[in-house]
Amino acid sequence: MTLKNKKILIIIGGGIAAYKSLDLIRLLKKNSVEIKTILTKSGREFVTPLSLSTLTKSKTFENMFDSVSESEIDHISLSRWADIILVVPTTANFMSKLSIGKAEDLATTVLLAADKDILLVPAMNVRMWLHKATQANLKILQDFGYIFLGPEKGEMACGEFGEGKMSSPRQIFAYLKNYFDKKNIVKGKNFKALVTAGPTREYIDPIRYISNESSGKQGYEIAVALNKLGIKTTLITGPSKISFPKSIKVKKIISADEMLNEVKKTLPVDLAVCTAAVTDFKPAEKSKNKIKKDKLNFKSISFIKNDDILDFLSKNNRNRPKIVAGFSAETKNVIKNSTLKMKNKNCDIMFANDVSKKDIGFNSDFNKVSIIDQKGNIKIIPKNKKSFIANKIAQILLDKLIDDRNIN
Ligand code: CTP
Repeated sequence: MTLKNKKILIIIGGGIAAYKSLDLIRLLKKNSVEIKTILTKSGREFVTPLSLSTLTKSKTFENMFDSVSESEIDHISLSRWADIILVVPTTANFMSKLSIGKAEDLATTVLLAADKDILLVPAMNVRMWLHKATQANLKILQDFGYIFLGPEKGEMACGEFGEGKMSSPRQIFAYLKNYFDKKNIVKGKNFKALVTAGPTREYIDPIRYISNESSGKQGYEIAVALNKLGIKTTLITGPSKISFPKSIKVKKIISADEMLNEVKKTLPVDLAVCTAAVTDFKPAEKSKNKIKKDKLNFKSISFIKNDDILDFLSKNNRNRPKIVAGFSAETKNVIKNSTLKMKNKNCDIMFANDVSKKDIGFNSDFNKVSIIDQKGNIKIIPKNKKSFIANKIAQILLDKLIDDRNIN
């Protein structure tokens, strides 16, 4: 039983859907989950501390400065104790507090101090959910790393119909089961990944080079996201102004040849993600000394093609990673050209970027990607922060990795 002895902290927010938290607790308890609860002041208007403590068989925490409970377990230990934290239901007001980092009561303080995944399960009137303020808060919270489940479409307690209904206890339970199932698999398999990122530089002489606009940001974020999922990740990066993520192993390179060398040295891995904007060509000759301008033939420089790293990884029979993912940069016919690239290079999945737009892609904090797989399925991750897109991509790649493992 995946959920047996898992520790879940449930914060009960102040909405009519709060009553469903009782059903959820019963379901989890039946599966031997250890539960602690925090009841917010407005949550208390909908469920009582007595019903919570009866179901959980443990005290419900309510006050930040309640000396009895603080001596039993303080707000920091409470968040450290949990394997995951849930907010059921998450109201519009609660989202707004979290989006500005409030720590005004026990619930918000625990969440601000948390080092675990936090699952927010929203429930509110459809207009409140679709309000620009709530949607802006949603983006901020997703960027902070909060996970959202729902809301669903349906009839709400207020009688209106639309998006805003809280996910059912069964849906929350299924999410948690899947969450811990995956964690268990990842823990047991010791998955390893490599991510290539940034531009490469191809020097003409010691001070002049050709390169491109890539910032490396999307690749860095993907490496961090994979690592967070428990996949041991090595980032192989060309020159970038972004500071290196502390949590992962980073190998710095300059040219495409060096990148390919480091990739070879990092094999074997289970997953390879090629986000690097590898410079396709290098000067046929690199001068040892600075070329004097009267000697430089500025009309033409001879170039030769660099090896294709993605192609090498996908067609490397001896050491092929289980999953090889590419990133395609295109300015027109994005889907058609990216699909062709995926087929030619034989990678398993291609994330296509339109780099003709200024507000997404190269050098932007935002991106929008089309996901193309070998079966011809195309899905879009709409415009969002690169960190959010990276988390989505990491989840998709982990699912693929697990799927493939199960088949073998
Ligand atoms: N790639 C690579 N090595 C190269 C060139 C590209 O690994 N020498 C990888 C990139 O990291 C990316 C994918 O191939 O995952 C697609 O790169 P992209 O620049 O979009 O296309 P190219 O293959 O270079 O083709 P073109 O420039 O003609 O679009």
